[in-house]
Amino acid sequence: MSAFSTFLLLFLLVIPSYGALALDRQREKCSIAVKSWALQAVNELSELAEDHHKQLKELLYFLHVPRTGGRTYHQCLLRHLYPKQQHCDRSYDKLRFNSSDHCKLLVNHDDYSILTKLPAESTSIVTNIRHPVDRVFSAYEFSVEVAARFFARNLRIKPKTQVTAAKTSKSTGSSTLSIWPWSHLVPWMRDDLFEREKLRLSGGADPLPLGFSNYDASSFVMPLHEFIHQPMVVDIVHNGATFQVTGLTNNSYIKEAGKIRNCVIDYPDLGLHILNVAKMRIDKMIFVGLTEKHEESAKLFAHIVGGQILPLGQPIDIASRNDVPTQTDSALSDAGMLAPNSSTSEVPDSQILPPPLEENLTVYGLIEKYEKCAGRFKNTQRQRRTVSLKNALPVNFSDEARREVLEDVLDEIRRMNALDLELYAYAQQRFKSQVLVQKSGVSRQFGSEHSMIWDTDTNINEGFQQAIGSSSWIFVSMLFMAGGVVTMAASLMVFANGKKIFKFQKGQNRGAMHEKL
Ligand SMILES: *[C@@H]1O[C@H](CO)[C@@H](O)[C@H](O)[C@H]1NC(C)=O
Ligand SMILES: *[C@@H]1O[C@H](CO)[C@@H](O)[C@H](O)[C@H]1NC(C)=O
Ligand SMILES: *[C@@H]1O[C@H](CO)[C@@H](O)[C@H](O)[C@H]1NC(C)=O
Ligand SMILES: *[C@@H]1O[C@H](CO)[C@@H](O)[C@H](O)[C@H]1NC(C)=O
Ligand SMILES: *[C@@H]1O[C@H](CO)[C@@H](O)[C@H](O)[C@H]1NC(C)=O
Repeated sequence: MSAFSTFLLLFLLVIPSYGALALDRQREKCSIAVKSWALQAVNELSELAEDHHKQLKELLYFLHVPRTGGRTYHQCLLRHLYPKQQHCDRSYDKLRFNSSDHCKLLVNHDDYSILTKLPAESTSIVTNIRHPVDRVFSAYEFSVEVAARFFARNLRIKPKTQVTAAKTSKSTGSSTLSIWPWSHLVPWMRDDLFEREKLRLSGGADPLPLGFSNYDASSFVMPLHEFIHQPMVVDIVHNGATFQVTGLTNNSYIKEAGKIRNCVIDYPDLGLHILNVAKMRIDKMIFVGLTEKHEESAKLFAHIVGGQILPLGQPIDIASRNDVPTQTDSALSDAGMLAPNSSTSEVPDSQILPPPLEENLTVYGLIEKYEKCAGRFKNTQRQRRTVSLKNALPVNFSDEARREVLEDVLDEIRRMNALDLELYAYAQQRFKSQVLVQKSGVSRQFGSEHSMIWDTDTNINEGFQQAIGSSSWIFVSMLFMAGGVVTMAASLMVFANGKKIFKFQKGQNRGAMHEKL
């Protein structure tokens, strides 16, 4: 072998390793950051009382994950549980919480890190979880729908000025544009609509190209398959439920959230650590609803949580009511999201519904209120959507239209929401156990729901924790962290020993990633 070719060989071996090593260091840094964050989160959870998930505390916080039908739950269910004067100040656009007010119901799109601003020990948390594919669809549709309202109302001359519309929010409910995540997604989508229109009018795009469909109408609106790959959507929408339950969203109160979130996005296998924290937090929540089972969720909530402060009362005769037909999930609505001056039903919340009459409210009374209200609510929402789009864009969004979307795109959404898919499966287990608790009639004594019912397959944390006890769990977490340091040292040594083992190690990691997620 000539000196030159030896040199070349060395060059080829060493240079890529340098690059790989730098990446590997980055990975180790991330690994340590994520694991120590997870350790701290587990520690904080262990400080909560044993019965935290059973006993309704002084403050009920609804952690409203966007596009999970939370507005219906808030307006039709939660707000009836407490007299109006006990509702905390409206906090969707910004947190207005004053502990000396002793308010009892707080609702917004903040993430779990809001607990750093609340009395954590005397706060019960309720949330809704939805299948992530539906949630992504819904986030797309809603972004387009609200952006389209600017289009429909001849606001195209100076679209940018409309961002200030939030000023009117005091009297009329918060403008969508002042509420995270719509404060980012809607102006971005709106600007994109205008760009596409400009291109279309200048003759640069075929208005009705082949393959035109409701979710792929690129000359009018960003197609779904493009939307899901946008950096903003990767940051804000995908795995959004997991990030929100872990307090790691783009809207977090904790400083390191962005760093941890990016680590998990860059190195998906690290997602397991935050997923574990998310599951443990779900375990500590007082109730977890499923968007797909919104009615059943509402009834269960009324029994399990409402039942702690309300008398049961009498079931209400269903036959005597004139039920409004219910619509499937795409019509489920969300927080007080109003673009300025809409002509369609954009009425402040307080005008849509009469103020709650809590006098002599019972569990069954609460359920009845929910059912009457939810039907009306969905109809209003559906109408608004139809009108918003009709005037602006040649597309319709519906459950039926969703079926046009190619399986590849759906697979991609699933892949990009691996954490949320797992969290959803976990929430389904929790939901089942709530059903059993309610059925077995122990909702009032709060039987040992956990030990009875949890499914061992999907419940890594609980099983692990129960097996070794929660203090040993912390010890094990520390071992994991130490393991990270050792791996880093080992990588350095491997670098000295040449590249073969190094490659092997990388391959292993990749395998592990697919296995775990
Ligand atoms: C909280 O409420 C109390 C009593 O209503 C008031 O004195 C105090 O200034 C409030 N704090 C803030 C930060 O608004
Ligand atoms: C959140 O995301 C938006 C859009 O990507 C970005 O403009 C904003 O700076 C982010 N905020 C934080 C705190 O990361
Ligand atoms: C909003 O409504 C007011 C009064 O109804 C009207 O004067 C104003 O022009 C409207 N603004 C927009 C942006 O449509
Ligand atoms: C509430 O109950 C009390 C006593 O049972 C009764 O006198 C009162 O009329 C009830 N109020 C309403 C609004 O039903
Ligand atoms: C959307 O729905 C309306 C009315 O239901 C219909 O007239 C229109 O053709 C539909 N557009 C598309 C793109 O399917």
